[in-house]
Amino acid sequence: MDTGAGLPRDVDATRANDARLCDFALGGKDNFAADRTAALKLADALEETRYLLSEWHRFRVRALETLLDAGVRQFLELGCGMPVRNNVHDIVHARDPQAPVVYVDIDAVAVTHFLALLSSKATAATAVQADIRDPAGVLGHPEIAARLDFDRPIGVLLIAVLHLIGDEEDPNRIIAGYREAMAPGSHLVYSDLSGEEQPADQVATYVRIGEEVGIPVTMRGRTRTSQFFDGFDLLEPGLVSPPDWRPSGVSRPHTRWLLGAVGRKP
Ligand SMILES: C[S@@+](CC[C@H](N)C(=O)[O-])C[C@H]1O[C@@H](n2cnc3c(N)ncnc32)[C@H](O)[C@@H]1O
Repeated sequence: MDTGAGLPRDVDATRANDARLCDFALGGKDNFAADRTAALKLADALEETRYLLSEWHRFRVRALETLLDAGVRQFLELGCGMPVRNNVHDIVHARDPQAPVVYVDIDAVAVTHFLALLSSKATAATAVQADIRDPAGVLGHPEIAARLDFDRPIGVLLIAVLHLIGDEEDPNRIIAGYREAMAPGSHLVYSDLSGEEQPADQVATYVRIGEEVGIPVTMRGRTRTSQFFDGFDLLEPGLVSPPDWRPSGVSRPHTRWLLGAVGRKP
């Protein structure tokens, strides 16, 4: 994608966007020059950040396998980004092809790419464009209300999204909006930027680059992040760096930029 011609009206190809920046970082082709410049700026300044997506996605696989083992058979990914190699529905449908999976993103390009991918075969997955800061709007979306049964356990994924939502938006309220709708036995899968274990100058560099490229980030340490699990019981090993969450035994680069956990609603 290079000119932006023919895009939906709310897509600005001249501004970097997190979904497309990640697509570029993963070797994808669905990004614009602004996204590529932003991704390279961050990776050049903070080499380790190249591994964040890998840490997030490996954590997502292990968390989903855990939820599937627990009998969860419907999934809502909030802030899904662009399709990647191991999407939620790829992992879930390998175990249960009938399990509903709904992707949500505010970005029209990300949703369009998911819909294009999913339209190529009959599948129990779909994608909708919505703003996750409005839980009532998301949960009341006709496609979501039709596909997901909130009277049964559901897996809600919030991975690599909340750093894009500042504290002024009250993320506790946002998560509570979903938690209140979730049936007992439902799970919240969360991971995001912490920066708590990084030198202050590196965190400042990350934040500065985010502002420069027009993608401001909010990092949250352990104490703040723990609040997101109010009303959930944390599965072992609790809130940790994602590679330490039930590791598969294969040693990988470990940045310690992130925190992640899975909570179960009792
Ligand atoms: C880094 S991507 C994360 C993608 C995916 N969850 C993953 O693990 O790779 C963050 C996504 O969150 C989306 N996003 C940011 N704010 C949002 C909002 N208020 N509502 C819905 N999606 C949002 C962005 O458009 C972007 O696609």
